[in-house]
Amino acid sequence: MAKYKIAWMPGDGVGNDVMEAARIVLDRMKLDAEYVPCDIGWDFWCKEGNALPDRTVKALKETTCGLFGAITSKPQSEAKEELAPELKDKGLVYFSPIVKLRQMFNLHTNMRPCKSYPGNPLNYRGTRIANPSGEDIAIDQVVFRENTEGMYGGVEFFPLPEPVYTALCANPKMKPWKDKAGLENIALSTRIVSTQGCTNICKQAFEFAKKTGRKRVTLIEKPNVLRETGGLMMRCFKDVAKSYPDIRADDANIDAICMWMFKNPQDYSVLVAENMFGDIVSDLCAGLVGGLGFAPSANLGDNYAVFEPTHGSAPKYAGQYKVNPIAMLLTAKLMLDWLKENDMATRLESAIARVIAEGKVRTYDMGGKDSTLDVAKAIADYAS
Ligand code: IPM
Ligand code: MG
Repeated sequence: MAKYKIAWMPGDGVGNDVMEAARIVLDRMKLDAEYVPCDIGWDFWCKEGNALPDRTVKALKETTCGLFGAITSKPQSEAKEELAPELKDKGLVYFSPIVKLRQMFNLHTNMRPCKSYPGNPLNYRGTRIANPSGEDIAIDQVVFRENTEGMYGGVEFFPLPEPVYTALCANPKMKPWKDKAGLENIALSTRIVSTQGCTNICKQAFEFAKKTGRKRVTLIEKPNVLRETGGLMMRCFKDVAKSYPDIRADDANIDAICMWMFKNPQDYSVLVAENMFGDIVSDLCAGLVGGLGFAPSANLGDNYAVFEPTHGSAPKYAGQYKVNPIAMLLTAKLMLDWLKENDMATRLESAIARVIAEGKVRTYDMGGKDSTLDVAKAIADYAS
């Protein structure tokens, strides 16, 4: 029997292309695993009315962890149109299967490292004034994104049910909407956070910093406007920080940090944020190190984890083997870390770094003409 059982979820679009790349590398490295193919994604929404079929949830429960490619998400109205005709009138509601997976398996922590690898032509080079020589600025950031709460909780209404409207109207701040809109014209998305959720994500961030010798943890929030949810997160952050006196703990508003990270990206190390702000800032971090082709992520729970590149399904490139597999391969590296296959993880990351530095095999985003699988094979040659 294989040492690990890994749920294999290519999902949509280029998810298939990059997962094939991952498989080439994992097989060449001889990871002792059985891969269990699992249905997930847009096709299953269209055909079955469920992007995350029950059989997939069941299969996942019998695996060590999951590896995931990419997912196509569309707004509610488009989702309804693409449903099979016999499912159209059933009142089915589309939800993102990856968001659902995170919640269902309580994968509370989304860890998203963004690192500039020397020689990557897409690395951030700073402004002319800051860096007249045009050298790479070394960036090594890790975002800890709360993964189950906040604006991703899915507690949303349109139109507003009467009891919700009445309850909200007890607050005098509702007056402008009461006067001009009325319940049938109001849409509501909630941002629900808990002391437990906030404390946990902050602890994960500080523990990681301590373990890896990082000296700074920065909270990203907006407590000057989001007074209650932002305020709670801020208090939890400060409380947790007290147990880590050797680590500098500071905070910044989401808008300000977008400016500061663009200006001085090398100053930041570990970043911690609520779900939505973590989503936003992790794309910014990816942009600083070459784009989504270089951004891996790990959805971590207490006993289970799902690993996925931060990028989407890029439908226009699906099946063309054009996209960069490096985000997916760095994701496989995070999975090897989690499995405590430390030697393999190190070998894989070194092989990725070497292929980037040599610059001989590159996908189009890096200025090359090679395919997804060519890059995977080049990395597999060094990693195996
Ligand atoms: C991400 C993605 C997802 C998210 C989408 C596809 C639902 O943007 O993983 O960052 O918003 O979490
Ligand atoms: Mg995102």
